[in-house]
Amino acid sequence: MPEFQTFADNVWIVDGPIAYDFGFAFTTRMTVVRLADRSLWVDSPVQVPFETLKTIVETGTVRYLLAATPRHFWRLQAWHTLFPAAEVWSSRNTPLRLAAGHLPMTGILTDTPNPGWADEIDQLVFKGNPLLDEVIFLHKPSHTVILGDLIQANPMLNGKHLRNALLRLSGCAHPNGGVGFDIRLTFTNRKLARQSLERLLSWDFDKLIIAHGNCIRNDAKSYVERAFQWLVH
Ligand SMILES: [Fe+2]
Repeated sequence: MPEFQTFADNVWIVDGPIAYDFGFAFTTRMTVVRLADRSLWVDSPVQVPFETLKTIVETGTVRYLLAATPRHFWRLQAWHTLFPAAEVWSSRNTPLRLAAGHLPMTGILTDTPNPGWADEIDQLVFKGNPLLDEVIFLHKPSHTVILGDLIQANPMLNGKHLRNALLRLSGCAHPNGGVGFDIRLTFTNRKLARQSLERLLSWDFDKLIIAHGNCIRNDAKSYVERAFQWLVH
């Protein structure tokens, strides 16, 4: 049963059910941040049991729902139904976006953090890729970077031999997290991508939440640097 796991002060993660993307099985994870006014900021929400939902509601007020990568957009619908008063934010729409129903979007995430969470969360658009303008966040009080699809460390899944082998070949399988080969290929403007990487590495962080695979609790900056070696050489 998915638990509401404490990752850092005022930061929680919940692992969701397996989802299929391009026919591949992926583990899923959402991130919840509680802001100073007890608003909850929820990135890449997943399906959770009632008990977990109850815990979340007791923790704060669900105010912001985000899909920071176009591949997680479909997850917003159910949570918008549960929390219709929450603002709904997403990364730039691209052909990769997995849509689900009609959502009253509040806006598109940019390089400037939204005033509602700017005191505690900074953000950047990782540019240079026409298909995947992923938005990456820094929870400043806990020095935690929150990232969705760019870096993955996909766990091996029982019985999924072809899937496991392909993810290993792609360079984004546990324990060696990285940017998958397919994603690397779609970066057509490496100069812009390097600028985004520079800004990311300028942040003060030592922890990293990723949506697909094990999170990093120490020395996460070295981990991110290693994951993007292909971009700087
Ligand atoms: Fe994903």
